[in-house]
Amino acid sequence: SLTDNAVVYTIKAQQGKTKFLNGFETETYGYNGRFLGPVVRMEKGMNVTIHLVNELKEDTTFHWHGLEVPGNEDGGPHKVLKAGEKETIQFNVKQDAATLWFHPHPMHQTAKQVFKGLTGLLYIDDKNLNLPDRYGVDDLPIILQDKKFTDENQLDYDQVMNADGTTGDILLINGVIDPKLTVDRKKVRLRILNGSNARNYILRFNNDMEFQQIASDGGLLNRPYNTKTIQLSPSERAEIIVDFTKVKTNEVTLINEDGVNVLPIHVKEEKLPSKQIKQNLNQLQVSDEIKNKKVTKKIKLAGMMQHVTINNKKFDPNRIDFTQKQNKMEVWEIENVKDAMGGMRHPFHIHGTQFQVVSIDGKEPPANLSGLKDTISLEPGQKAKIAVKFKRKGIYMYHCHILEHEDNGMMGQIEVN
Ligand code: C2O
Ligand code: CU
Ligand code: CU
Repeated sequence: SLTDNAVVYTIKAQQGKTKFLNGFETETYGYNGRFLGPVVRMEKGMNVTIHLVNELKEDTTFHWHGLEVPGNEDGGPHKVLKAGEKETIQFNVKQDAATLWFHPHPMHQTAKQVFKGLTGLLYIDDKNLNLPDRYGVDDLPIILQDKKFTDENQLDYDQVMNADGTTGDILLINGVIDPKLTVDRKKVRLRILNGSNARNYILRFNNDMEFQQIASDGGLLNRPYNTKTIQLSPSERAEIIVDFTKVKTNEVTLINEDGVNVLPIHVKEEKLPSKQIKQNLNQLQVSDEIKNKKVTKKIKLAGMMQHVTINNKKFDPNRIDFTQKQNKMEVWEIENVKDAMGGMRHPFHIHGTQFQVVSIDGKEPPANLSGLKDTISLEPGQKAKIAVKFKRKGIYMYHCHILEHEDNGMMGQIEVN
């Protein structure tokens, strides 16, 4: 049964005060603490029990972004815990190593609660990968979130004013303003999460050095992909291996496309041995059968501000938009519709599954999009085909991961049976 040898976690949504700016106290939310949350770690095959506790003064839910759990355990907007309530969920982990995350999903309140600090990482581990895996030493989480503060040093959240998503002028890395990282002179793994409400990042190093992307949202790519930049829309993840022996001085900085410093890194002098990264990391493929399969579900993303829709509809919690059979692969077509206003980029996310990109505008996806994904970010006018299979049953959300768009109804639901 699901309780056999189960690993047990308790995750509490809490509120508290955090000092970000000059020692001033800012009201924040966190999991098992004042801001952000712990890294929850699991392995394939493991039975997991999680005690969920809502210590906030408002409704929340606990959603496991990227985890292939039954719909009932997925923490969508139907699974509300009211202030003070508790619940226990149980499931078996059925997917390979990946960097996932968790956050709340209550109707119309997701964006605000994430902005206030409800974000945690969830790793699915695999000890046999021979990748750098010493947490905090050569395996480092990097959660990117931009924030805006009021004159009273409080998080400045206003859904109506920021209907296309809250962005801010202050960047937090793992909840810290202006952090400084020190690393060993060797190969180090960075697990980067765009945990921002709406901002896109295009990251690179200021010395323009190459690094290797080894994983995307849902786990390892087939082969390490050599690149100098990485683009992440809200909710997307990338794992990269950075060879710090290539840094000639002792300093290098991860920067954003706009030239903003994201993370200054100090590289220690002494050169240390590195793990050899395998060239064969995974064996994913999109078969010819899937490539030739007819599209059976069409998703049209459209609009801006309060006018965002999916298939011309706003979310209705009492309406099931699609159904799909468990374990049946279907090809979905996702289109970001260009309208008279031009439109905007929308990162489209599906709960409870990791999909594969079959094509973008009729072409094979680039190497960084060839792994498992739970979010695909499309420019206006772009069209993608994705192969989607659900391993578990239940009701799952799909939506734009600009959180204010999701809260504004740019969401639908599918029942897997
Ligand atoms: Cu991060 Cu509905 O998801
Ligand atoms: Cu999700
Ligand atoms: Cu959107």
